[in-house]
Amino acid sequence: MSIAATTMTRAPAVRHFLDLTDFTGAELRDLIERAKTMKNARAGAPRGTPDRATPLKGRIVALIFEKQSTRTRLSFDVGIRQLGGETIVLNGYDLQLGRGETIADTARVLSRYVDAIVIRTAKHETLLELALNATVPVINGLTNLSHPCQVMADVMTFEEARGPIAGKNVAWIGSGTNVASSFIHAAARFGFNLRIACAAGEGPRPELIEWARANGAKVTLGENSEKIVAGAACVVTDTWVSVTEEGQIAADVVSSRHTKLAPYCVTPALMAKAAPNAVFLHCLPAHRGEEVAAEVIDGPQSLVWEEAENRLHVQKAILLNCLEG
Ligand code: CP
Repeated sequence: MSIAATTMTRAPAVRHFLDLTDFTGAELRDLIERAKTMKNARAGAPRGTPDRATPLKGRIVALIFEKQSTRTRLSFDVGIRQLGGETIVLNGYDLQLGRGETIADTARVLSRYVDAIVIRTAKHETLLELALNATVPVINGLTNLSHPCQVMADVMTFEEARGPIAGKNVAWIGSGTNVASSFIHAAARFGFNLRIACAAGEGPRPELIEWARANGAKVTLGENSEKIVAGAACVVTDTWVSVTEEGQIAADVVSSRHTKLAPYCVTPALMAKAAPNAVFLHCLPAHRGEEVAAEVIDGPQSLVWEEAENRLHVQKAILLNCLEG
């Protein structure tokens, strides 16, 4: 699928959050600054305490999960409550979608009931069709092609710890997953140098790299993780089998991928090649001993729990921006 096919023309009155490619760097920067402000404003408050301002009072958001989720589901649900709103959480089989009702009809109906829709789906086309037919904002909660909310939290987390990400070297190690795709988008929008080490045949789609370079991103590709990670300020990896692939790919494909990716485990030895104060990020869920060693993810350079928390803050900013749009 071409990069163009992963984006869509927005209906004039609706601001969706489908991919980082739909926004300028300045717009994404504003979202991160807003998230930081909201996070600081409620520092130390019990989780269930509403924010001082509750702009979602009287608003309802549908959270649709066709695939499993811990962080996305919980962080949206909690964030919406902190903003004074209410949620309806559905899995794909709760809806008539599971019996063949079209996405377009579902979008039209939901738009009469709720104020926004967050969806996790295995097919990016489903997200686009939903957004095209909805008259309320639609937010990408992960598809097979991208995970923009995650990477917004990752940029926020890096910057909280190490300052502006622009101009820094970020090393992506392992598999060219949906999160890797959003990192490629982010490299163009936030101005960091993305260095990607993937096993042969497991890299990102070539058109993504073409898009990134055409949009001014500095992206380097290689198969040698030690060379790619050298001097990096941030080392990132992801699980080798995405939630969108669970049950969709054969056991022998999974086994072959594990064999190819085994040398790409982020170990303490690999982290030692990065900059001395490098941070480690992982969107979670993690598989210790596969894509990352326990000593790294549970070690002092790891920011994975801050990263998970920041999903909450950045998604509140995203949701408000969509609803104000
Ligand atoms: N990182 C992430 O999206 O986690 P979940 O799959 O648990 O939502």
